[in-house]
Amino acid sequence: MQIKSRKLKNVTSVFWNSQNNSLVLLDQRLLPWDVKFNEYHSVKDVSEAIKNMVVRGAPAIGVTAAYGMVFAAIQALSKFKRQEKQIEFLKASYSTLISSRPTAVDLENFARIILEEAINTNLSVENVLNKAHSLREKVIDECKNIGIQGEKIIKNGDTILTHCNAGAPATVDYGTALAPIYVAHSKNKKVRVIVDETRPRLQGARITAWELYEAGIEHSIITDNSAAFLMSKGEIDKIIVGADRCLQDGTIANKIGTLSLAISAKYFGIDFFVALPWSTIDLSGRKASDIVIEERDEEEVKFVTSMEKRILISNEKSPVLNYAFDITPAELIKGYITSEGVLTLDQLKKVIKK
Ligand code: MRU
Repeated sequence: MQIKSRKLKNVTSVFWNSQNNSLVLLDQRLLPWDVKFNEYHSVKDVSEAIKNMVVRGAPAIGVTAAYGMVFAAIQALSKFKRQEKQIEFLKASYSTLISSRPTAVDLENFARIILEEAINTNLSVENVLNKAHSLREKVIDECKNIGIQGEKIIKNGDTILTHCNAGAPATVDYGTALAPIYVAHSKNKKVRVIVDETRPRLQGARITAWELYEAGIEHSIITDNSAAFLMSKGEIDKIIVGADRCLQDGTIANKIGTLSLAISAKYFGIDFFVALPWSTIDLSGRKASDIVIEERDEEEVKFVTSMEKRILISNEKSPVLNYAFDITPAELIKGYITSEGVLTLDQLKKVIKK
């Protein structure tokens, strides 16, 4: 169900409506042309919203999955009397939610926390809901601090390249890669942002550019294949991107195209930073080869969709490879912008071990 449009100012991309116990999501597919919020009431609908990218960005889909597990608890209690059946339903809901998009680990991390809370508290809806609220608040708070810490690496006059959208819609509020830029701007540092359009879903051209425009921050959209050329001309001082998963060895998965940026940055001697909250860290001991890279529908590449118009832009009969993410090794990453500071790989590893 769609609820009335409103300006995004003072509203976040994921929030709970306690009046009717619904989850409200900013429909990011419509940005920047329309600011609309949809309401959700079940695990299945929340999972669909994640899959079809009503909500996107690793921390935002993590928080959404946490609330999805709240619906799992509500549904389990209303459907089943026996506790083992309720737990079975909760576990099946957990699997449904985490498989809706496989690459961002935030989904798994947050859904698991709520699953454990539900089981340990005999399915108290009040407890799981409070836990989901606290995860949401923690992400917002961390992003604020990522901004404060990350601002320290931004010099007055810097031109910063970013990829995809790691701004407020992607993280519930503030953003990760964009948060330091917002703080620098608020401190009157002159910053210019180069925004990769980010084919095929154009999160850069649509969402990042919209956010920066609304915030009054100087920026230019570029086609993805312009980035290395701009680096070669000395027009980029730093690169800051977000992440969908960071392994314990510092390897990251992020939007497809991130790896090419990191390789080009190394070649041209440009510092490449990754901004992330703790929910994006994969503590399971997985290796890079274990990361499941989401492959999306070929329609996303063959067609462009804008303001409800869908236009074929490719040879219709050709097959497509549409990987949504790629993997960047730690050796290409200068630093990790976290809520506790801008960390080197060794520092990150030490903090993870604690
Ligand atoms: O496919 P998307 O739009 O969900 O991909 C998002 C990204 O790759 C972001 O860089 C990442 O999730 C970090 S958001 C703070």
